[in-house]
Amino acid sequence: MQNLISKRVGSISKSAIHEMTRLSKQLDDVAFLSWAKPTSGTPEHINRAAIKAIEQGLVGGYSPSDGLLELRREIVKKLKRDNNIIANPSQILVTVGAIEGIASAVMATVDPGDEVIVPSPTYSTHVRHVLLASALPVFVPLHEEDDYALHIEDIKAAITPKTKAILFCSPNNPTGTIFPEQTLRKLADIAVENNLVIITDEAYEYFLYDGNQHFSIASIPKAQNNVISCYTFTKTYAMTGWRIGYLHAQEALIPHIKKAHIPYAICAPVISQYAVLEALKGPQNCVKEFREYYQSARDLMCQRLDEMSDVFSYVKPTGSYLMFPKILLDEGKNSFEFCVNLLQKAKVSTTPGVAFGPTGESHLRLSFCVEEAMIDKAFDRMNDYFNKKDLND
Ligand SMILES: Cc1ncc(COP(=O)(O)O)c(C=O)c1O
Repeated sequence: MQNLISKRVGSISKSAIHEMTRLSKQLDDVAFLSWAKPTSGTPEHINRAAIKAIEQGLVGGYSPSDGLLELRREIVKKLKRDNNIIANPSQILVTVGAIEGIASAVMATVDPGDEVIVPSPTYSTHVRHVLLASALPVFVPLHEEDDYALHIEDIKAAITPKTKAILFCSPNNPTGTIFPEQTLRKLADIAVENNLVIITDEAYEYFLYDGNQHFSIASIPKAQNNVISCYTFTKTYAMTGWRIGYLHAQEALIPHIKKAHIPYAICAPVISQYAVLEALKGPQNCVKEFREYYQSARDLMCQRLDEMSDVFSYVKPTGSYLMFPKILLDEGKNSFEFCVNLLQKAKVSTTPGVAFGPTGESHLRLSFCVEEAMIDKAFDRMNDYFNKKDLND
């Protein structure tokens, strides 16, 4: 079997996230904090628009591979309003979630043997995108002691003649922290000076808390030619199953990115394109409600973590709906084993930090895009489990 597998795919380890999901499904009544997937449903007006598109017979065929023109026009308005990016529809490619946009962007810009700088910890799929392009991920550790800040000197030190791109998400999965505007401005300078591509993943752009504002690096005019910005509807409107997102890049790059997008996807699901047309045109209060809910769920999770300060320390998330506590116990040094134990002995499903890059070990990722009752259930169980363990130790 082994020699049937390409070296590229063979070099990729099994996903710890999917392994935890598989193990979780073998048990009943698990308290789930492991999925970066909103458990609230897609808003009703968006569902209705999809049903209407089916009834009107609009969804049975492919769309143009760039996406419906009407949708790209709405995306242009959204980029201007919310991201301070002035674009035209031929700079937009509608993709199968942010994921396929990032995959196509990497394929279009990165050659085998190139180096791609990725902060660590980061979204594990980014690392796989780089490996699938037969390129080398170069991890730049974030500074946990400085609220997971990205230090620009570290980026400078990581650049070699082989560096081609920098790929990051802000707000960050798994840490739930954001890279501030000054950092992104310095990153833009570095990219322009060194002729590097910046690929952004802005999946959580609407979920920032405590008055923080999202900043898109492509809004810096001098950086626009170097940046490919990837966005998604799946997090913003609780539509993970609809598989729909988009990217923005300079116009000359789009035909090249499409050379990867077409063999991967042909076009994004047409029914989902009609659904998100309504998402963009319709009322936006659902996004505000999701954000307010996540902020209160975050506060609850932090409060519950404060009660377990002998087991976990944490950086309070300012964005996304994820956080990345450090495990203070010795057994946390192997985060995979720690999470499997927590699942099997306390019935709480979390994600091992080792899945998120070399500096992710000794941590676990918790999602707060769940009902508050689920957070309480998980923490009640963890409290019981660690208290009993203490007694037996
Ligand atoms: C940072 C980040 N980017 C992208 C994705 C996937 O987005 P999409 O559903 O749009 O492909 C996720 C999902 O967890 C994510 O956390």
